[in-house]
Amino acid sequence: MSSLTVVDHPLLKRDLTILRSRETPHGAFRKTVSDAAAILAYEAMQEVDLKDKTIETPLESTTGYEIADEVIVVPIMRAGLGMVDGFVRFIPEARVGHLGMQRDEETYDPVDYYSNIPDTISEARVFVVDPMLATGGSASFAIEHLKQRGAERIHFACLVAAPEGIERLQSDHSDVPIVTATVDRELDDNAFIRPGLGDAGDRIFGTT
Ligand code: PRP
Repeated sequence: MSSLTVVDHPLLKRDLTILRSRETPHGAFRKTVSDAAAILAYEAMQEVDLKDKTIETPLESTTGYEIADEVIVVPIMRAGLGMVDGFVRFIPEARVGHLGMQRDEETYDPVDYYSNIPDTISEARVFVVDPMLATGGSASFAIEHLKQRGAERIHFACLVAAPEGIERLQSDHSDVPIVTATVDRELDDNAFIRPGLGDAGDRIFGTT
């Protein structure tokens, strides 16, 4: 079974509280998603490989490190877009692939509407990002799509996960580690995460 890491950090707990509050306007919500994503990125990138790099300090030569992996961040649109900045701020040379996916409002099944993935996906360490893991349908479908395109080292990061989504992802993709800020209580009858933070996409982009 894939690993599940619930990141325990005071800044993240504070950020989640801001995100959960219905009083938070979309500008503050968007900024906080980005900040929280950076904390998740810090944890999710623990396994990134390094290689030695020799450099000159102002005084002498010494050996340090550089990132050896090709890194690709793949947001599941729309809401995943809000987490991209938090991930690429640590690795500016990272490439970004896009997957457009939307839940059917009646069946809750994911429907894909866009895909633009860098050709280097098969050699890359891939971070799939989406603030919400509800039924797990979108994340599972996205990861399957990336595997079909050749991806072999995939990580998934979200802000809020439902137990049902974690179970689905671990069952469908036992090789994909999951990093989240919290595991919430349950999904309700409309497949919304409770207590959750509402519809992350709408709150990031101000569409409600
Ligand atoms: C939300 C969310 C995830 C998905 C989670 O997207 O951002 O992508 O639902 O649900 P699941 O785990 O049950 O698949 P939504 O369909 O609201 O689209 P949006 O990001 O464009 O708002």
